[in-house]
Amino acid sequence: MAAAHYGPAGEPGAESADEPAAEPAPYGSGPAATPAAPAGSSDPKLSEAHPRIGPRGSDSPAAGPLKRVRIPQLQAMKERGERWAMLTAYDQYAAEIFDEAGIPVLLVGDSAANNVYAYETTIPLTVDEHLPLVRAVTRSARHSLVVADLPFGSYQDGPSQALATATRFMKEAQAHAVKLEGGRHVAPVVELLTQAGIPVMAHIGFTPQSEHALGGYRVQGRGGAGDVLVEDALALERAGAFALVMEMVPAPVAAQVTKTLRIPTIGIGAGPDCDAQVLVWQDMAGLRGGKAPRFVKRYADLRGTLKDAAVAYAAEVASGSFPDAAHSFD
Ligand code: KIV
Repeated sequence: MAAAHYGPAGEPGAESADEPAAEPAPYGSGPAATPAAPAGSSDPKLSEAHPRIGPRGSDSPAAGPLKRVRIPQLQAMKERGERWAMLTAYDQYAAEIFDEAGIPVLLVGDSAANNVYAYETTIPLTVDEHLPLVRAVTRSARHSLVVADLPFGSYQDGPSQALATATRFMKEAQAHAVKLEGGRHVAPVVELLTQAGIPVMAHIGFTPQSEHALGGYRVQGRGGAGDVLVEDALALERAGAFALVMEMVPAPVAAQVTKTLRIPTIGIGAGPDCDAQVLVWQDMAGLRGGKAPRFVKRYADLRGTLKDAAVAYAAEVASGSFPDAAHSFD
C-alpha cells in the first residue's frame, strides 16, 4: 500500500513517488480497495450468519457494500450464544487492520493515556487529547462499531456534564457510542445519554479511572462484593446500557452477571463465560514491553519485529547499502 506520507499523488507536475499500483489503494479511494483475502469467516455457517465477523475480503462494490455493525447485531449474537472480540484502537492503521480482520467493535479506550500518551494512569487524559484519536478511528473503520471512552473528569459531575462531553465525541469525532466507568451511581448518566440517542457501554469491576480509590490494580467482586457487582450490572442494564465491560472480576461472578443480563457482557480478566472479550491491542499483539497482566495473551511479537526492522534499517544506512539503485531516482 502506498505510504500516506508521500503526499498527494498525481498532483500536476509532481513526480510520483509510488511504485506501479501493484497493491490496492487505501480504503475510501474507490474500487481498488478490495483486499485479496478470502470472503468472510472460514466457517461457512458463521460467515453466512455474520458476514462481518471474520476476515473481510468481499467488500468490493461488486460484492455489495458491507454495512456498519450495529447494536442489535451484538444483542442478537448474545441471544444465539455467539462470542465476539473487541479490541482497542487509537489510530488509522490499527483501525483499518482490525476492521479488515472483522473485529466488530473497536474501543478508543482511555487506555490511550498509557498506550499513546505515555501517562502512567488513565487519569490525566483530557477530552481534547482523546477526540482526535477517536476521529482517526471512526474515519478509518468502515465496518466496526466505534466506541469512545469518556475521559476521567469529563462526566463525573453528573448527567448534564456527561451529555455535553458525549455530544462532543458523537459530533466532533463521529463516535457510534460512548463508554464510561462506574456502577449504579452512574445509572442516571447512562439513562440521560441513552434517552438523548447516545448508546452507552458501561464498565464495572476494576475501573482504572478510580485506581487510587480502589487501592491499585486489584480483582473486584470477591466474596460478598460479587452480589454488589450483579446489582450494579442490573442497574446499568435498566438504565439503558447496550453492553457491559467487566474488568478483573472473578470468573464465576462474571459468568453470573452474563447469565443474569439481557445485554452482552465483555470481559477483560473476567474469565471465559462473558459474551465477548476485549484486550488492549498493544498487549494482544506484543507491542508493549515489560510484564503483562495475567489476563493478557500475546498473539504476536510486534515489539521484536519492529525492533529487528529498525536495527536492520539502521545497519543498511550505516553500511551504505540503503538506499540502493532500486530505491533511488535516475
Ligand atoms: O480503556 C480501555 O482500553 C478499556 C478496556 C481495557 C476495557 O477500558
